[in-house]
Amino acid sequence: MKSFLQEVSLGLSKKNKKLNSKWFYDFHGSKLFEQITELEEYYPTRTEIKILKDNKIEIANKIGKSATLIEPGAGDIKKIAIFLDSLDKPKKYIPLDISEDYMTKISKGFKRKFPKVAITPKAYDFSRNSKLPFKVNSSENIVIFFPGSTLGNFEKKDAIKFLKMLKSKFKAKMIIIGVDLIKDIPTLISAYDDKKGVTAKFNKNILRRINTELGGNIDLNSYKHLAIYNKSKKRIEMRLKCKKNSNIKVNGSKYLIKKNEEIHTENSHKYSIKSFKNLANKAGWKIKKTWVDKKKLFSVHCLDPR
Ligand SMILES: C[S@@+](CC[C@H](N)C(=O)[O-])C[C@H]1O[C@@H](n2cnc3c(N)ncnc32)[C@H](O)[C@@H]1O
Repeated sequence: MKSFLQEVSLGLSKKNKKLNSKWFYDFHGSKLFEQITELEEYYPTRTEIKILKDNKIEIANKIGKSATLIEPGAGDIKKIAIFLDSLDKPKKYIPLDISEDYMTKISKGFKRKFPKVAITPKAYDFSRNSKLPFKVNSSENIVIFFPGSTLGNFEKKDAIKFLKMLKSKFKAKMIIIGVDLIKDIPTLISAYDDKKGVTAKFNKNILRRINTELGGNIDLNSYKHLAIYNKSKKRIEMRLKCKKNSNIKVNGSKYLIKKNEEIHTENSHKYSIKSFKNLANKAGWKIKKTWVDKKKLFSVHCLDPR
């Protein structure tokens, strides 16, 4: 199992330098992401929230009675709160996130707001095929809530693997998932390159963490935040472009990052309803219902096992 240091060493040694976007998320990074969700340019959060609010009764009816709700990458836990009150006696709620301190803090507020729902937050990295930090009982009505288009951060083959794992390992009977839709390029780019520069700070948080947690000496001002739309792969790519030749030291090892060289930090794949349907089908799920907003910016799907 690779640690932050091992992944950074590997990622910075490659010809095409690459770091996993999961490393954005420590407490500071999660706070920055929360700020991103409130930006004018960042349409996904407010659009998905509206879809969930407008359809909460239908979503609650689909989820059914006594659900065990599991939310991988739960973040600020705001979206589950939209329909929780509409559910028929939910049994428990298990938010999972890699950003442990942030989740612990957020969960305290949740407990005060929903004292009747048993909440057991767990630190869990879903990119590793590690043991679940809770017991699953396959006779339960296990429903996965996976909003925020987090699935878009996975390469397509990994997205299929992950959706398969939700059935085989989490024993999920249903998935409620938020998926960002393909749209005009300027709207997409500005959502990932806002005027206030919050997304740039979020992107550079990976470098800040290398400095604070791994004793790195990276000058954050030497890097420029980039958000590019890769047309053939239908995804936004976030990158950090080095403005000058830099010798980086991390935990005693040296890496040369050349002028104009880029470190690829995140992918955010965009889907059409059809391409998401194909992906879900390949993973052994079928779409039972799709909800979209009027402008067709974002989609929420209810998936059933095939
Ligand atoms: C795009 S944000 C979405 C947050 C929230 N679900 C929402 O809808 O606003 C991705 C979330 O997944 C978490 N995350 C990213 N990679 C992860 C991983 N490998 N394992 C667990 N959580 C992860 C992040 O900490 C963050 O909270």
